[in-house]
Amino acid sequence: MTLPEGTPETNSRSAAAPDEVVWEPVVTEEPLAGSSIGTEPSPVSPAFDEVTRQRTKEIIARYPQSRSALLPLLHLVQSVEGHVSQDGIRYCAEALELTTAEVSAVATFYTMYKRTPCGEHLVSVCTNTLCAALGGDDIYARLQARLGTDGRPLGHEETAGEPGTPGSITLEHAECLAACDLAPVIQVNYEYFDNQTVETAEALVDALRAGEKPAPTRGAPLTDFKTVELELAGIFPDLEMSVEGPSVAVETLRGAQLAADRGWVAPPMPDEPPALPDLPEKK
Ligand code: FES
Repeated sequence: MTLPEGTPETNSRSAAAPDEVVWEPVVTEEPLAGSSIGTEPSPVSPAFDEVTRQRTKEIIARYPQSRSALLPLLHLVQSVEGHVSQDGIRYCAEALELTTAEVSAVATFYTMYKRTPCGEHLVSVCTNTLCAALGGDDIYARLQARLGTDGRPLGHEETAGEPGTPGSITLEHAECLAACDLAPVIQVNYEYFDNQTVETAEALVDALRAGEKPAPTRGAPLTDFKTVELELAGIFPDLEMSVEGPSVAVETLRGAQLAADRGWVAPPMPDEPPALPDLPEKK
């Protein structure tokens, strides 16, 4: 392993997972618009190839301030690596002229950015209040046992199988997935499988492990984690396919349907907003 030239902050060995940092200096030829990448020899992982660099430029160009592109760029990194490695953090920092500390702060704040390699599929089980009460906790426990090895249940964000290989699954418990009317719910690569039971959830992960791609209840046909990460970065190689599939459920529209059937309408908006009550005096 050779660490690159650079600032102590970007080269901090302690900031990297021990088996993650494999630096191969790559000299870029063409500068990225609005970024420091490519303006001088830059030690960037060869995983970030020319296609990724072009996509990086495309994403950055969408924003008046380049730093606003950080969230989609982290998804782009995940579409390449299957997670955000220290190398990926450095790539984003160089592209956006941020420090690696700033990028790390964002990457470790949001749960959608994974710091360890993901499986072909990410299976998220909602264990928030409503789903938990209706069976989400049981589903998660059963999947942990099903995907674990040697009697040890699979832990949160652990992977069954070799990460990235066909049939590998990263399991996580998730907070409310915004589908409480269809509880308990599971997402696979962020597509919904509604109204689950322990049995249907087990059948779902068995099918994924066998290389099948069952149709979600709502959302586009299943692909894999990396493909979905590219879409989350705002790059759609096949837009039609990415938006295909049902997007609403009968349960979600039931209130609106009931109102329509009964002729209920909301009162019109007043021309002037109603007066707000006086605020109590500050003491
Ligand atoms: S509690 Fe599970 S979707 Fe809201």
